[in-house]
Amino acid sequence: MPKIVIDNLEVEVPAGTNVLEAAKKLGIVIPHFCYHQALGAVGACRLCAMKFVEGPVKGIQMSCMIPAQDGMVVSTVDGEAQRMRELVIEWLMINHPHDCPVCDEGGECLLQDYTIAGGHGLRRYKGKKRTFLNQYLGPYIEHEMNRCIECYRCSRFYQEYAGGTDLGPMGSAGRVYFGRFEEGSLESPYSGNLVDICPTGVYTDKTARYRGRYWDYDMAPSVCPGCGLGCGIIPVARFRELLKIVARRNDAVNGFFICDRGRFDKSVNDPHRPRTPLVDGRETGWDEALDAVAARLLDVVREHGPEAVAVIGSPRMSLEGNLAVAALASHLGVAPCFFATAGEAERAEAVVAALTPEIAVSLKELQSTALVIIYESDMMEEGPMAALAIRQAWRRGTKVVASRSPVERLPFPVEEIDHVAEICGAAGCATQVIVCGTATNTATTIAGVAKMGTKVLYLLPAANSFGAALLSREHKAVSLEERAASGKLRAVVSFEADLPPEIAATVPVLAVADWTATVAVRSAEARSPAVVLPVAAFTESDGTWISAEGRAQRSMRVMRPGIPVAETLRTKMPEADPERAARVIMRQVDARDELGRELPPVFHPPRDFRSSPPGGDPLPAWRVISELLRRFGGEPIVEPLTGKWETLRNLDPEGEGVRVLADTEGSR
Ligand code: SF4
Ligand code: SF4
Ligand code: FES
Repeated sequence: MPKIVIDNLEVEVPAGTNVLEAAKKLGIVIPHFCYHQALGAVGACRLCAMKFVEGPVKGIQMSCMIPAQDGMVVSTVDGEAQRMRELVIEWLMINHPHDCPVCDEGGECLLQDYTIAGGHGLRRYKGKKRTFLNQYLGPYIEHEMNRCIECYRCSRFYQEYAGGTDLGPMGSAGRVYFGRFEEGSLESPYSGNLVDICPTGVYTDKTARYRGRYWDYDMAPSVCPGCGLGCGIIPVARFRELLKIVARRNDAVNGFFICDRGRFDKSVNDPHRPRTPLVDGRETGWDEALDAVAARLLDVVREHGPEAVAVIGSPRMSLEGNLAVAALASHLGVAPCFFATAGEAERAEAVVAALTPEIAVSLKELQSTALVIIYESDMMEEGPMAALAIRQAWRRGTKVVASRSPVERLPFPVEEIDHVAEICGAAGCATQVIVCGTATNTATTIAGVAKMGTKVLYLLPAANSFGAALLSREHKAVSLEERAASGKLRAVVSFEADLPPEIAATVPVLAVADWTATVAVRSAEARSPAVVLPVAAFTESDGTWISAEGRAQRSMRVMRPGIPVAETLRTKMPEADPERAARVIMRQVDARDELGRELPPVFHPPRDFRSSPPGGDPLPAWRVISELLRRFGGEPIVEPLTGKWETLRNLDPEGEGVRVLADTEGSR
């Protein structure tokens, strides 16, 4: 480990670490644009200058390009180095528009930060600026090429890191254009990362433009609900509306990036979301709705016995919600359900039974394996970020083979094989990983894969499939399908579950708690007797999620539930252009003067004085269940994570999470 001195402070870093990173370790952050930890250094922007005073390299150098070596003495505050950095910023700003106050990237722009930090405030250049035409890049990403500083981060990410072929640099010298050969939607399923990785505002999230500044946003660390991989995200909200999602760095899972499915899902804002409790299609308050559910379930239990009631949790609900489901079911004297179909339950439980600490791998570990075997999985559907991790392994020379899997969309070349057993074991199993899909594989196959002597990454469909399966085994749950097959089912109370439509339509007593407008919610809204209980979405409550590799992670509440202000305005101004209505979110409508004359709209929030936001009824599912428990004479739930789950209460939501495998799982 080389030791170097930077600004009179000694630091020891792993061999290969560049001087820019070594300085960071000392808390000295030197402006840099082209260097990125995930992409490496190319020395393109010339901004990270430091003065090398002693050692094998001397003079002003780009610190990102020099690996730390014993004997180096470096200064970041040397006048020559500082002047170099000032001049680089100035020359980058020659062509950059001077429009930060009205730029949609303003407030979250590295170029803006470093320009201000470097003290460049006066424009000396009097000539014409270089300009480009922008391209239409699809519905998600806005292109504004005049802002480019030619750091090459976008093309290095898009082409080298993610394997995309439809965006790159074109041109030469001072006129390099970063875009597509022709206009059109970006093809890479990881294209949204351009928004995060561009240090200025060339690529911005089209779905969130001009909706707020960085300091207006509500943000919190969270976990992506898009599949079972548990990538780190930061949802960004304002006025009860999810504006955008950006990647949260988690080195053990997704690194710096996320896939487009996770980034652009805005179902939290769905105007058709259930927002108010309904009893038999009629809007009501919480007390009446909960009383109705309790009374109806008790009637069924009295008349037909507890086995006529199904209490249903869900793989897309947090651990807290599912633990509460188990408590409610136990109070009623029935086995809980966590999965709709028997097949889904069997496969997820088979994963939980098979995955041991010895064979489990993280996405980070997947990147440094010697051989990857993809077995019966459509990876771009089941776990897009696992495919991106495999691409990084392939770039380092890892061989990738696939059996019974579609390979056309994978961002790396694959050799197709017939039988996994043929290749497995041939080159030292400890460095091999089987990536096993669970959408079509049987429970027997899933169990068999764990015995191949390799490491295994199972891909599960939902953010908490693993957690639901852990509870399913522990509480001897049965699937809803099996409960229905008994012919005794008379009542269903479900929490964030995807009920089969035929059960939602025919079960005599139905209560559906969800935050999204599922088929079951629609069914419960339209029929009687049925109750709809609106619950908080993942952005509206804290929660714990266990990913497909058995990693428990905490997500924090980002915003309070309620109809977004922009949505309120859209309904109040149906004739207005929705884009404009969304942008002028401060506009008061229907205002009249004392003579009743209509006043022109003004920029102010609607003057509705109320103690809670409109549509702010949803509660976290576990709180709804706690209220039901109380009505059944049980103990309300004060803290859902108790007993062996208690240790998860203090999980750092900004950390990497912890594995929850055989140690925590009591039934094994
Ligand atoms: S578009 Fe952004 S990321 Fe790409 S080279 Fe220009 S400034 Fe860098
Ligand atoms: S791979 Fe899955 S968990 Fe990760 S960002 Fe994409 S959808 Fe979300
Ligand atoms: S960060 Fe070192 S040259 Fe760009």
